[in-house]
Amino acid sequence: MKILTIIPTYDEIDALPGTVERLRAAVPDSDVLIVDDNSPDGTGRFADELSRQDAQIHVLHRTSKNGLGGAYIAGFGWGLREGYDILVELDADGSHQPEQLPSLLAKIDEADLVIGSRWVPGGSVVNWPLHRVAISRAGSLYSRTMLGLKVRDITAGFRVFRRSVLEDIDLSSIESVGYGFQVDMTFRVAKMGRTIAEVPITFVERTQGVSKMSSDIVVEAMLNVTRWGLAARARTLKERITGS
Ligand code: GDD
Ligand code: MN
Repeated sequence: MKILTIIPTYDEIDALPGTVERLRAAVPDSDVLIVDDNSPDGTGRFADELSRQDAQIHVLHRTSKNGLGGAYIAGFGWGLREGYDILVELDADGSHQPEQLPSLLAKIDEADLVIGSRWVPGGSVVNWPLHRVAISRAGSLYSRTMLGLKVRDITAGFRVFRRSVLEDIDLSSIESVGYGFQVDMTFRVAKMGRTIAEVPITFVERTQGVSKMSSDIVVEAMLNVTRWGLAARARTLKERITGS
């Protein structure tokens, strides 16, 4: 099984070295793809340096900050073309502990998508301010209800996908720019009837750099979830009425 861990970066020069080092130690078999959006702090050049020293590290450069969703779509495209079987999503800032990746990978035999979850028994967050906990929990609850999903941590960004699931999703049709991308992917995998497993993780708030979360990202996710939820209800209603 060929594994690729994709790390999106925007201004992560302080955090990225430790994350990559920990990942290479924790899961030496996994290749690494850093997707950098032309970070002003030089993260992209640093990533190139890492890739020169380690044949398992690759870098994709995008021209400008274009959102987490776009970075992952570019990374998935690259990984599928290069023939990887398992594709992993990991934040650069240390919030997702590479040492916990083996416990996610252990579940991919039984599921098409494995989510590292903060909001299942055994999962937790360390040092997250109360407003972030509130946004994340409320966001997950709203998305669960609107979209009829059983997943507890719908916006989670620590994930393992089987190749076949990504092949079956039309990645070019994904519009979400921000973290709503994670909700979008979860919803699509569930709608396809594929299995999703959640594994508890300890999410540790970053100690270096700053979050790229903004109110725009939250609003985008909320509007999209509302739109998708209403569209799904309209479809069900139409099927009931027309019997098809
Ligand atoms: N290439 C690229 N382009 N990378 C980006 C962009 C972008 O526009 N925006 C964010 N990133 C990268 C960051 O550099 C980091 O590696 C990762 O995406 C997560 O960004 P953070 O800014 O650290 O996210 P967070 O800690 O606020 O949010 C966490 O919680 C969200 C909600 O549950 C993350 O785990 C998200 O993945 C999650 O959706
Ligand atoms: Mn973070």
